[in-house]
Amino acid sequence: MLSRIDVITLFPEWVEGLKTLGLTGRALASGRVALKCWNPRDFTVDVHRSVDDRPYGGGPGMVMRPEPLANAIEAARSDAGPATVACLSPQGRRLDQRGVLELAERERLILVCGRYEGVDQRVLDQLVEEEWSIGDYVLSGGEPAAAVLIDAVIRQLPGVLGHERSVVEDSFADGLLDCPHYTRPEDWRGLGVPEVLTSGDHARIAQWRRAQALHRTRRLRPDLWSERVLSAEDKAALAHWPEEFSVK
Ligand code: ADE
Repeated sequence: MLSRIDVITLFPEWVEGLKTLGLTGRALASGRVALKCWNPRDFTVDVHRSVDDRPYGGGPGMVMRPEPLANAIEAARSDAGPATVACLSPQGRRLDQRGVLELAERERLILVCGRYEGVDQRVLDQLVEEEWSIGDYVLSGGEPAAAVLIDAVIRQLPGVLGHERSVVEDSFADGLLDCPHYTRPEDWRGLGVPEVLTSGDHARIAQWRRAQALHRTRRLRPDLWSERVLSAEDKAALAHWPEEFSVK
């Protein structure tokens, strides 16, 4: 299980907020998982402390210089035990919940955040084992993607969520979207709460929630739905709670 994350970044502020905010803040403060940033600028040797340079072959933008980046990665690597070195980039494997669970199983992760224009390919070839993308759009750097990945991974670690069940009931935990949720008051601006949720009948509530998750997924995510094989319980839930009982 993951116990340490190192982030190689020119903008540690993007990631440092995770240490103080909400769920990730509590997990990091508890010592369950450690987070440390390494700035390639601290590993430069020239007077200008330059971390990027113009691309060979011309063109717009700058490319991160290999040496400061490699030095930062190597310093992180030798600071603790074996680690997987992963770069955030649009070329990477698309992150989904399955990927998040895989990453949470690693002992230690070193996340390399490149500026979008690029990282010298030789660093990727020599030092980076994996590339991950958070979606088919372009960010100006890997930092927001690293923050997304870290948040998603930390909430999977045992004991991080108050209720262990919450992780199991998350959207996508079972390839389904989440069911709708309600809290007090029971009458809000004239809108009520589905009767079953106030019935106290836990088996009926669980079946209603399952049916809602199934309906939602079918309606909103046909891509997930088409991969689905309905279990006997799913079929029973849908038969008991047909579409007209479904919340949008
Ligand atoms: N860096 C720039 N765009 C990215 C994306 N979509 N995912 C991960 N890292 C990125």
